[in-house]
Amino acid sequence: MKQSSRRNFIAQSALAGLGTLIALPSLAANIGSENTLANPFSSPIKTGFDQQPLPYAYNALEPLIDTLTMDIHYNKHAAAYSKNVKEAAQAESVDITKPLEDVLSNVSKYSVKMRNNAGGHYNHEMFWKLLSADATTQPDATLLAAINTSFGSLDELKKQFNTAATGRFGSGWAWLILTADKKLAVTSTPNQDNPLMDIAEKKGFPLMGLDVWEHAYYLKYQNRRADYIAAYWKLLNWKTVSERFNSI
Ligand SMILES: [Fe+2]
Repeated sequence: MKQSSRRNFIAQSALAGLGTLIALPSLAANIGSENTLANPFSSPIKTGFDQQPLPYAYNALEPLIDTLTMDIHYNKHAAAYSKNVKEAAQAESVDITKPLEDVLSNVSKYSVKMRNNAGGHYNHEMFWKLLSADATTQPDATLLAAINTSFGSLDELKKQFNTAATGRFGSGWAWLILTADKKLAVTSTPNQDNPLMDIAEKKGFPLMGLDVWEHAYYLKYQNRRADYIAAYWKLLNWKTVSERFNSI
C-alpha cells in the first residue's frame, strides 16, 4: 500500500471504528490526488492476455498439489482460458495490448465467452503466483493490521475464507478482496467470475483467491475439498498477498 493510501486506510479504519463517515479535508485531498474514487481498484499490477510461464516446476508443490494435476491444470484448463479470451477479444474488437482488467470491469458489455475466459485467465494467472513451496507464512505488518481491523484476527479471516470456499456450490472461487472503501472482505464467485467484474455481487480488488473447481484438486483429493483448502493455506505465499495489498 502506498504511503498516502496507507494513511487513508488507517484514517478510514479509525473513522469507521468511531462509526463516523465524515472525511477529513486532508484525507479528501489525498483521495482526489490519486483518483482512487474514480477507479477504486486501480493497481499497477496488471494482467495481459497471454499465459505467463508457471513460476515453478509441475512437481514443486508435491505432495500437497500433485504433479499431474498441476500439469493438466496449467497446460489444459488455464491454457484454454488464455487461448479463448484472445479469440473472444479478436471477435469483439478488444485491444489485447491493453490490460485484461479493462475488460473485466466492463464484462457485462461482452459475450459469455469473454466473461468466462477473461475471468478464467485472470484468476489462474493470479492463482499460480499465490502458491509456493517456499511460501512466506505470514502477512506483512501492514496487511496484518488491516486483517485485524476488518476481521478481528487472522484466524477469523481463515474461518470466513474456509466457509466461503467450502460453501461455494459447484465450481467457483473464494476471495479475499480490498473493497472500494478500503476494507478487507471475504467473498466467493461462481464459475470463472471474479470481484473485478462489473456483474460481481461483491466487488473489490482480489488479494488472494482459491480455485475450488474440481479440476484443481479431484485427482488427489476427490470429494475432500476441505483437505485441499487446508493444503492451500500451507502453500499460500503471503508475500504475494501483501504485495497486492500494498499496490493499492
Ligand atoms: Fe482452475
